Amino acid sequence: MRGAALNRREADPDEQDSPAAATEFAGAMLQALSGRPRTIAPKFFYDRHGVSLFERICQLDEYYLTRAEMAALREHAPSIGRLIGPRADLVEFGAGSPVKARIVLDALPSPARYIPVDLSVEHLDGAKQDLERAYPGMVVEPLQADFARALALPAQRPGDGRRVGLFLGSTIGNLSPEQARCFLADAAERLAGGGLLVGVDLVKDPDLLHRAYNDTLGVTAAFNRNLLVRANRELGADFDPASFDHYAFYRPDAQRIEMHLVSKRRQTVHVCGTAFEFDEGESLHTEDSYKYTIGGFCDLARRAGFAPGPVWCDRQRLFSVHWLAAPPVHGSAVAGR
Ligand code: AVJ
Repeated sequence: MRGAALNRREADPDEQDSPAAATEFAGAMLQALSGRPRTIAPKFFYDRHGVSLFERICQLDEYYLTRAEMAALREHAPSIGRLIGPRADLVEFGAGSPVKARIVLDALPSPARYIPVDLSVEHLDGAKQDLERAYPGMVVEPLQADFARALALPAQRPGDGRRVGLFLGSTIGNLSPEQARCFLADAAERLAGGGLLVGVDLVKDPDLLHRAYNDTLGVTAAFNRNLLVRANRELGADFDPASFDHYAFYRPDAQRIEMHLVSKRRQTVHVCGTAFEFDEGESLHTEDSYKYTIGGFCDLARRAGFAPGPVWCDRQRLFSVHWLAAPPVHGSAVAGR
């Protein structure tokens, strides 16, 4: 039965998002439009259409991130598998589709459990049956939740190996370095005795970065504008998406890509019954995507309480996968591991 395994609610395939999610989006959009500068969190991109646009982005020639990360994972899977060890209890934050997790799972001796945490029901729903069939002896416990919240993870089970977090796809790039440090500090506690495998996009030639977020087919532009399309559908807003330019650029000083929607003209939009003015050239800041040097990311991880371990890259060194060892379990001498 579709959705039966989801923790928070039953999944109706026709339903877009839970009422709670819609309310959260409304609040965030109203707050963004009322503030200066106007900024909204990138997690609101990912309704069903946003998820499928993002999947198309991952296949674009210019968007090297997904291919480079998969290459790094594939090439170094045996080392990763040895570090994680047998009967692993895997938690994937912002899971998305399980393609990358499967590269890791394939390298593990008898994984015990896989807990994908994601906002999108579409992703979680399909995963359980397929994965339990593909990895006999492993249970899948999907959790529909915002990984950035202090979510209650299922308790660790006696007899299982290490609890290991997966935080792939440069999702950590959407957090500011300070938010990333907080997320990592929290993860270091929750993964005590285990570790975290993080996918981190690297600082590189600005032209290459620029192209990855300004593809010639305009898929990234459609992904950006989908935020407005979603607001029209879910919040009864009246944005004219075509009257906003997709504007994405790299800021070397901040080591990040910024993505904006810039109004092409003076206009008024209505959201939840309130009118908001956009001046010509005024922007709604929709995403930051931070890039790191390997050393810079190791420093950040250390400040969050992890002991950074091996770093694996693709051959072109576009993307990095970091092993971060969590501190040992409080008060116990790593019993039974
Ligand atoms: C999902 C955060 C990895 O920052 O590259 C792709 C999202 N935005 N194109 C990224 C995204 C525009 C992506 N992450």
